[in-house]
Amino acid sequence: MKPRSSRDGRNAAAAAALLLAALVLSGDVLPAVVAVGAAPSFNYKDALTKSIMFLEAQRSGKLPPTNRIKWRGDSGMEDGKLANVDLTGGYYDAGDNVKYGLPLAFTVTTLAWTAMAFEKELKAAGELENVHAAIRWGTDYFLKAATKKDHLWVQVGDPNADHQCWVRPENMPTPRTLYQINDKTPGSEIAAETAAAMTASSMVFRKDKPYSRRLLNKAKLLMTNGISQLFQFAKTHQGTYDGECPFYCSYSGYNDELLWAATWLYLATKRQVYADFIGHEAISSSVAEFSWDLKFPGAQVLLAELNMTSSGGLQSFKSQADNFVCAVLPDTPFHQVSITPGGMIHLRDGANSQYVTSTAFLFVAYSDILRRINQPVMCGAQAVQPARLLQFAKQQIDYLLGANPRGRSYVVGFGVNPPTQPHHRGASTPVLPPGYQVNCGMSFSEWFTPDRPNPNELTGAIMGGPDGGDNFSDKRGNSSCTEPCTYINSLSIGPLAALAIRGPNLIATQ
Ligand SMILES: *[C@@H]1O[C@H](CO)[C@@H](O)[C@H](O)[C@H]1NC(C)=O
Ligand SMILES: *[C@@H]1O[C@H](CO)[C@@H](O)[C@H](O)[C@H]1NC(C)=O
Ligand SMILES: *[C@@H]1O[C@H](CO)[C@@H](O)[C@H](O)[C@H]1NC(C)=O
Repeated sequence: MKPRSSRDGRNAAAAAALLLAALVLSGDVLPAVVAVGAAPSFNYKDALTKSIMFLEAQRSGKLPPTNRIKWRGDSGMEDGKLANVDLTGGYYDAGDNVKYGLPLAFTVTTLAWTAMAFEKELKAAGELENVHAAIRWGTDYFLKAATKKDHLWVQVGDPNADHQCWVRPENMPTPRTLYQINDKTPGSEIAAETAAAMTASSMVFRKDKPYSRRLLNKAKLLMTNGISQLFQFAKTHQGTYDGECPFYCSYSGYNDELLWAATWLYLATKRQVYADFIGHEAISSSVAEFSWDLKFPGAQVLLAELNMTSSGGLQSFKSQADNFVCAVLPDTPFHQVSITPGGMIHLRDGANSQYVTSTAFLFVAYSDILRRINQPVMCGAQAVQPARLLQFAKQQIDYLLGANPRGRSYVVGFGVNPPTQPHHRGASTPVLPPGYQVNCGMSFSEWFTPDRPNPNELTGAIMGGPDGGDNFSDKRGNSSCTEPCTYINSLSIGPLAALAIRGPNLIATQ
């Protein structure tokens, strides 16, 4: 039996999450949120370490001797060969063996933001170097993918052929087809997200000047007018790249990626050209979702303390960032995100945990900014204090760790009754000798269908998670529940580091 596309949930119309200013008028009924009794406490440090380890299990290419995932080996060693280029490295996004540019870049951008916003905590937890290594695993790959002007390699691996073979990447016989964007095939989302990833990473690696400069030079002004090469490319060849659809379709368009990339370029360079773009040209909308597809709230939070006005000058980014919070929190007049009876944000089935970790991340990052500027969130006339954001962020992370109606963990290898059947090719296939010829036709009945735990522990993988009724099925065949994704984990690292080091109230020490 061929499994359903592993991207089911990722394709639901993100546009549905778009909020219009008119949402302010909706008459809301508070969902029943089950109060979590005594404040649960978990070994957050352990969860943090494991969450980073999952990213190591997703690495493609030649693994370093420091690789901690013993059942993983070198893979995708000929990636790029079809065009005589070296595209080894990078990450597999989820349970399959394709390297998709858009989610890969978003994973790296969010890791870089994490490394900066939670630097102190990661250092105190002894994990900063591991996060830096995780970023570099992505940026080394981007430097290979972005060698030529007006050109970017955006994907390795034919997803349809890949999905017809349940095989670990070390032994995959499936075609490593290459996909690119160029002056004839636009792809503003991927170009801008890749520019954002390289720019944010250049800030992380500032102490390594040559490397940082290489990243920024790729992502920024090689052009006379001071606009990033990739960014210029994204702007002048505007258009959506459909090549990753139906696996990763950009439902939200590219305006959010352009704003997001310009924001990172502005933060890295402080150049007026990006400020002008942000203030006068960029389109910014209030939305209730932060994800690989939709970055508005991320940019708005980053811009909230800079007092820039968005196009038309009608709204500051602070009020748009506030709108995100108001749409999520169940106790504001403007809430619109559905919350399960057990208290988990539920936008849609399939990798729903990405919204849980992304919201927790933004809430902690934003509350730190709110404390710096000494302002609350304003939901209409109702002021929401930063402490409330932190409390909600903790509740979301705790839910995934075990404070949920099922009293179980949704993180592999962590806590009570953790998942055993992640929808993941490498973890569910035994270690095979190099060169072992896998029969794709037999692979599903051998390794996918049997109802037994995976032979390899996918340590730290956060599952796609429960459905809207807090129900979860620990079955490999149920990809919406059991498939992990790099960007679910990348966004969990900051909140976990904060919980591990700051303590349960999550308030940053000076
Ligand atoms: C932003 O504007 C407000 C109100 O005009 C002002 O109080 C605040 O200091 C400004 N913040 C920055 C970072 O310039
Ligand atoms: C969740 O499972 C329970 C029984 O285990 C069932 O009664 C309920 O309808 C399920 N909820 C959803 C949303 O499927
Ligand atoms: C996966 O499991 C969840 C929770 O039990 C359920 O709601 C959903 O329908 C299942 N999906 C499939 C494809 O079986």
